[in-house]
Amino acid sequence: MTLKNTAWYLRSRPTGEVDASHFDVRTEEVPDPGPGQVLVRNIYLMIPASMRIWMNERDTYLPAVPLGTVMRGITTSIVEKSNDERLPVGTYVNGMCGWQEYAVAAVEELMPLTHKHPDIPLSNYRHVLDFQGLTAYCGLTDVGKPQAGETLVVTAAAGSVGSLVCQIGKKLGLRVIGIAGGPEKCQWLRDVCKVDGAIDYKSDDVGAKLDELCPNGIDIVFENVGGPVLDLMLDRINLRARIVLCGFVSTYFGGEQTAGRGLMNLVNQRGTMQGFIVLDYLPHYAEVMGILTPWVLDGSLVHPEEILDGLENAPVAMNRLSRGENHGMQLIRISPEA
Ligand SMILES: NC(=O)c1ccc[n+]([C@@H]2O[C@H](COP(=O)([O-])OP(=O)(O)OC[C@H]3O[C@@H](n4cnc5c(N)ncnc54)[C@H](OP(=O)(O)O)[C@@H]3O)[C@@H](O)[C@H]2O)c1
Repeated sequence: MTLKNTAWYLRSRPTGEVDASHFDVRTEEVPDPGPGQVLVRNIYLMIPASMRIWMNERDTYLPAVPLGTVMRGITTSIVEKSNDERLPVGTYVNGMCGWQEYAVAAVEELMPLTHKHPDIPLSNYRHVLDFQGLTAYCGLTDVGKPQAGETLVVTAAAGSVGSLVCQIGKKLGLRVIGIAGGPEKCQWLRDVCKVDGAIDYKSDDVGAKLDELCPNGIDIVFENVGGPVLDLMLDRINLRARIVLCGFVSTYFGGEQTAGRGLMNLVNQRGTMQGFIVLDYLPHYAEVMGILTPWVLDGSLVHPEEILDGLENAPVAMNRLSRGENHGMQLIRISPEA
């Protein structure tokens, strides 16, 4: 029997939220892998906030997804046919295999999960023990240059990356303040992530709360959001503060970038503001996973995930990020693990 692949092709570019009309869903025959290639069945598709900007016309740190091609997506998959002994049938792999059930890929394009710990669920290797963990750890340690006792403020703090940054910050001896939307997320940050304070940007007076919770000023900002809160944080930075620009999620679904009023305080305080992209830290992957894995195993690095079944839920899952409906990492289960 010939295998059939259901694949989601980008048909048009959304201006705000995403829906099924932006895609053509096609069912087509699965091709056989050529020399040096394998056929994988995709299991988990990660829904990171930044996936939304790949759908825009403008290139970012990756080229824009061309219209008429399978939507780019970061996946965990299993090898089902192999033409290369380096990736035998049954190997779990991470890669960019897209919004589809099956993909043919060159061995060099895939990373085998030979390091998977038997007590850690496969889905964890699609976020905390992969890009999200690497982003949080390297952004905070390499760009943020933390010193124990300093004050760190994290935005989108209850999200996938943000909640890891908060917890890693606590492990490094920082005073950590998280900013998130809604009282439940703030309570979770205090109770579970053990932050020293949480601010609900939707209902608190953010400036007044920053003054109350950061009485000695702010040494590190880990910015995931952009917008007016960034200026309120810049107003309160200390001498030689580090502003880590990880992302501007408030702009991804059509919002305007409005931050900038507070930039002069970087001059006054001799601060630095630096963006980074996780892909630059791939050479440190094994080292960082070696640090994070024991924390995942002993439960001291919590990493909630929400899994929706079926590719048809991928647009809904993306919009949950824009609305703040996600609690931790949003994943799509495309097919069963076994
Ligand atoms: N630089 C890199 O290499 C890299 C790598 C991975 C991720 N990132 C960045 O990390 C950030 C978080 O990504 P993620 O995948 O972990 O997503 P996430 O934080 O799990 O989900 C996005 C969260 O952003 C908040 N949000 C959405 N729209 C907002 C708005 N208009 N104003 C304020 N908050 C808003 C929502 O939380 P609330 O309910 O709290 O509003 C939502 O839950 C993004 O900026 C992403 O681009 C960067």
